[in-house]
Amino acid sequence: MSERNEEMPKEENAFKRPSALFWEPEIIVFCCSYCAYSAAALAGSQRLQYSSGIRIISTPCTGKLESEHILEAFEKGADGIIVAGCLEGSCHFLEGNLRARKRTDRIRSILEEIGLGSERLKMVNLSDSMAEAFVQHMQDAIATIGALGPNPLKP
Ligand code: FES
Repeated sequence: MSERNEEMPKEENAFKRPSALFWEPEIIVFCCSYCAYSAAALAGSQRLQYSSGIRIISTPCTGKLESEHILEAFEKGADGIIVAGCLEGSCHFLEGNLRARKRTDRIRSILEEIGLGSERLKMVNLSDSMAEAFVQHMQDAIATIGALGPNPLKP
């Protein structure tokens, strides 16, 4: 009888902490409308599975994404951010994705300096047909950011 009573609190605790047991990162993906957004749509039409914590925002070109947009998303509680642009050499605005790469590298340094972790931000390059690669990037990000834990700035 006493053994059974000792086991009960463990089970109760398990049910009282669902967020700790089932926490899933919220990741904002800024997708270039010419490539990565189409790759995401193709993944959906092929019924490829990825986390429900992924939030996709279409942007005309990753070069149009300002540092403020990324930093504001972190301030508002995003656990991670992915900037998904066209393959290098394929940007419709010539060098937008190269500028975006430099910008994300700079912000990654800032994130590391302030203790948030540079791994919370990454840039990937995709063509519109790379649905499986899109999903793989999402799964990799969920694993990486899941290991870091929630954004400590989360309101
Ligand atoms: Fe796709 Fe510039 S048009 S990254």
